[in-house]
Formats: sequence, structure tokens, C-alpha cells
Amino acid sequence: MHQKNIEEAKKRLFSGELVIFPTETVYGIGGNANNHKSIELIYKTKNRPINNPLICHFANIREIEKNFVLKDKDYELANTFWPGPLTLILEKNKQSLISPLLSNNKNHVGCRIPNNEISLSLLSILDFPIAAPSANIATRTSITSIKDLDNKLKEIFYIDGGSSVLGLESTVVQTSKNGCKILRLGSLTIEDIKIKFPKYEISIEQSNVSPGNQLKHYSPIKPIRINVDFVKKNEALLNFGINELTSDIKSLNLSIEENLSDASYNFYNYLNILDSINCSGIAVAPIPDQGLGKTINDRLRRASYKDEQNI
Ligand code: TXA
Ligand code: MG
Repeated sequence: MHQKNIEEAKKRLFSGELVIFPTETVYGIGGNANNHKSIELIYKTKNRPINNPLICHFANIREIEKNFVLKDKDYELANTFWPGPLTLILEKNKQSLISPLLSNNKNHVGCRIPNNEISLSLLSILDFPIAAPSANIATRTSITSIKDLDNKLKEIFYIDGGSSVLGLESTVVQTSKNGCKILRLGSLTIEDIKIKFPKYEISIEQSNVSPGNQLKHYSPIKPIRINVDFVKKNEALLNFGINELTSDIKSLNLSIEENLSDASYNFYNYLNILDSINCSGIAVAPIPDQGLGKTINDRLRRASYKDEQNI
């Protein structure tokens, strides 16, 4: 059913254009990773600072091996979690054709194999990888369905693959001697890694090595207050579980059953809905700080940065 759109996307990517496509995490806005001009266009279209590197998407590990040097631990994680929401920071080899602009001239590049039929079919008919950040304007929220696409991106060719099944971005990971460092929390949780690799030492890198960690990021337009125990007049409510919180404007519940996978799935979609209604701001209920809740809280902290100071 998507075959015609996949062929059209291929044509456009070959000619240097961008395309918006679904992945299991969030939608991506992609270009030919080997084409300097396409990469330039991604940065310009998203209004993204050039020092925030892009993720490169591949159809399979053989294609990754053509461009990168993988160490033992990289293979362990890759073989366990790909295709899936893992982005591994890998070192380019001498043969790599990937545009240096994609990683701000650095030799280390974030790579992933998405677990989505449409993106995998598209990648498998190209002879280059797709560079793709999330399909949003810089500092705004990622999108998990085409209806949430920013007006400024609506002219770009897109493939509609329905709602992203996971709903939060990939986890950015760099392996180390004894384990790995998490550079950006995401859909693959620390617990997921620990279950498969109990001996790994896992640290969360708090610095801004991953520039997506910049403080004001992943934000809606309306002010947002997190961990609330009351809702102000005219505020909308993003709730979680069963509690006393109510809004006189509108409430949406990420998961009444307190299921964090459901909450992740609903997260950006609900934020976008509340952002678009007539309210003074969005109040968010406390979310448990474990598993996917850690990632949701990370996004909420960045989304509420600055706004918190206006309480
Ligand atoms: O799920 C995802 O990761 C989505 C889909 C489309 O694959 N992509 C995505 O890309 O979220 P983007 O550009 O919005 O976020 C990429 C994150 C940023 O935080 C960036 O700083 C980090 O990955 N990153 C990319 N390359 C890096 C590198 N070489 N070193 C450190 N961090 C890197
Ligand atoms: Mg992004």
C-alpha cells in the first residue's frame, strides 16, 4: 500500500530533496547522508544549530560496517537491540562517504536501524544511508503522527505510517571499556540494557556531549509546569494515573493504569493537543522516575525549562 510513496521518496532523496517518514520512535525528516547539500538543507529547514549532529539510519548492519569501526560491545548492543530504538555512537572508517557536516566534522556518528517496515523498505532500496533528525522545528516537540506536523514543514513530501508505536526518541549510547554511557535517554531503557547485560557499568552522561540535551528542548509553545499537586485556573492538565487533579479547561490522561509504555505512546500527541487549545499553560502530574518514566521526565524538564521560573 505504501509502495508508491516509498518509490517517490527514493526519487526525491536521490535528487537531494528531503522526505518525512515514520519510524517506531518518532517521525524523521530525512536526506541523503552522503550528500553535503541535503545535510545543509536539513539543518536549514529545521532551524537547527550546526553543532547538534544528526543520526544516520541504515537498513542493516552490513551497511553500517561499510562506514564504521565497531568494537565488541558495539556488536553486543547492536545484535541485541537492532532493529530498534538504539542509536550507537560509532567511529567512521577511512572509506566512509558520509558527509562530515552531518556530525559537525567529528569522526563519531550516531547510527541506528529503525524497527519500522516503511523506513526499512525505503532504506533497503537506497545506496546511501538516511540522515534524519526528528521531524520538528528545533526546540519543539518531536511528532508521532503526520497530523502534528508543523505548518512550516507541510510542503515537504511525507509518508504517513500512522502513529509511531513507541512514541519517544531512540536512546543515544556510546560503549566504553566496561559498559556504556547513555548520552540521551530514550525508548530503550537502562533497565532493558541491564536485563540483557547485567555486568555492564552504565552511566548517564549529564554534560551536553549530546547537544540534544540542551536545556530548552522538546517544548510545546505554551508554558508547562511539571510535578504539579494542583492545577491553576485556565491551565490544561496532562495527567497520569488516578488522583485528585482536575482542570476547568481540559484533561488528558497519559495512562490511567499507570502503564509507562502507554504513557510514552501518548506523550507527544497529548502535549500537542493541549498545546493547541485555548489555555494559559499545561500542568503535568508527577510521573514515576523509572524505566520509560525517566525519559518522559527528562523531556518534561527540558520542555518546562524557563517556564518554571515564571511560576
Ligand atoms: O528516535 C530517534 O532518534 C529519531 C528518529 C527519527 O530516528 N531521531 C532523532 O534525532 O530524535 P534528533 O536529531 O532529533 O536527535 C538526535 C540526538 C541529539 O540529541 C543529538 O545531539 C544526538 O542524538 N547525537 C547525534 N549524533 C551524535 C554524536 N555523534 N555524538 C553525540 N550525540 C549525538
Ligand atoms: Mg529532535
